Amino acid sequence: MSDAPSKLRIGVLGAANIARSFITALRGSLKVDVCAVASRDAAKGAAFAKEMGVARSFSSYESMLSDPSIEAIYNPLPNNLHAEWSIKAVNAGKHVLCEKPLAANSADAVAMFAAARANDVYLVEAYPYRAQPQTIKLAELVRNNAVGRVQTVQASFGFPLVAPNNIRWDPSLAGGALMDVGCYPLSLVRLVAGERPVRAMAMAQLSESGVDRTFMGTLEFASGLIAQISCSFGTARHRRALIVGDVGTIDTTYFNDTGAEFPPLVHVTRGSGWDAVRETIECAATPGFFAQGEAFHDLVRHGWGAWPGATPAESIDIALALEALAASARTGTAVRISQTAM
Ligand SMILES: NC(=O)c1ccc[n+]([C@@H]2O[C@H](COP(=O)([O-])OP(=O)(O)OC[C@H]3O[C@@H](n4cnc5c(N)ncnc54)[C@H](OP(=O)(O)O)[C@@H]3O)[C@@H](O)[C@H]2O)c1
Repeated sequence: MSDAPSKLRIGVLGAANIARSFITALRGSLKVDVCAVASRDAAKGAAFAKEMGVARSFSSYESMLSDPSIEAIYNPLPNNLHAEWSIKAVNAGKHVLCEKPLAANSADAVAMFAAARANDVYLVEAYPYRAQPQTIKLAELVRNNAVGRVQTVQASFGFPLVAPNNIRWDPSLAGGALMDVGCYPLSLVRLVAGERPVRAMAMAQLSESGVDRTFMGTLEFASGLIAQISCSFGTARHRRALIVGDVGTIDTTYFNDTGAEFPPLVHVTRGSGWDAVRETIECAATPGFFAQGEAFHDLVRHGWGAWPGATPAESIDIALALEALAASARTGTAVRISQTAM
């Protein structure tokens, strides 16, 4: 009998576009087997499985969740369905890698982790960039005070969304730039801050469908750190962060996939005056969906120490901050963020 560790058998909920990137990246993984897809439409699911070389397709989400051979679920459903189907999956005893943003509101995020704990399974929010060596280096620099005490963070993510019928334009599916892309800079800000923000202020430009098309928000932290996030469906593609401490700066991109097009460079300036020393750190280039999928396997097999991604506490803080920023943009007032909700 082989004592090789078994692959994590993952089923995908919905024939989502992003599932193509997920499945393609993990082909050839020695740790993960994306072995099934479930669709609301049997023919669509079968065609998707054939196209992607996935072994099985299920004609309903429920039937895949009740199959004992599926150990874990990748949930790339529209944002408003993340909570409902992740909770159904953990109640069926499956580990869950849920697409960002984890939930449409913080109460759902809290309920999702409570359900995962009650069923003794892992549930995490997907941010492939968090498994990048570039991000791991960034976190290490901040932790080791490479730029001193961080005072400000500015993080941005935008791209031009041209398709008119995309789920991201639909308010009933929890669309909008803040939910879809704003959670990314927010997750980076939370990683750097290491704590939950206390207050949010924001402004949004709305699209014709009523969701925010461009969004900018400011967050205050108990440490004194102030962070600004911006996101948009109407800008050129970019993903960039500037982290400023009292004795230096870190300037970095934070793409999911790095390589020749998006080189994984972290620019560090050490010092606070004209004599500051500049260094460019070149990290290993990695396909982020592959690194994240293998890290998810490591989490399930070896526990939290093996997971470089967002922790449940971080994901709850991200959900609380998303909620507060949206409320601030709606009301035009500053919104306090509860420090006790969990
Ligand atoms: N981490 C990242 O960088 C990243 C990148 C892109 C997207 N995402 C996230 O992944 C999720 C999916 O995004 P996507 O662009 O791949 O979406 P998509 O192509 O529109 O796919 C969503 C899938 O959800 C299923 N679905 C169930 N109920 C639905 C409904 N009422 N309306 C529409 N679809 C419904 C459909 O599958 P069936 O019809 O087969 O059941 C559909 O194919 C979102 O949460 C998004 O934020 C993350």
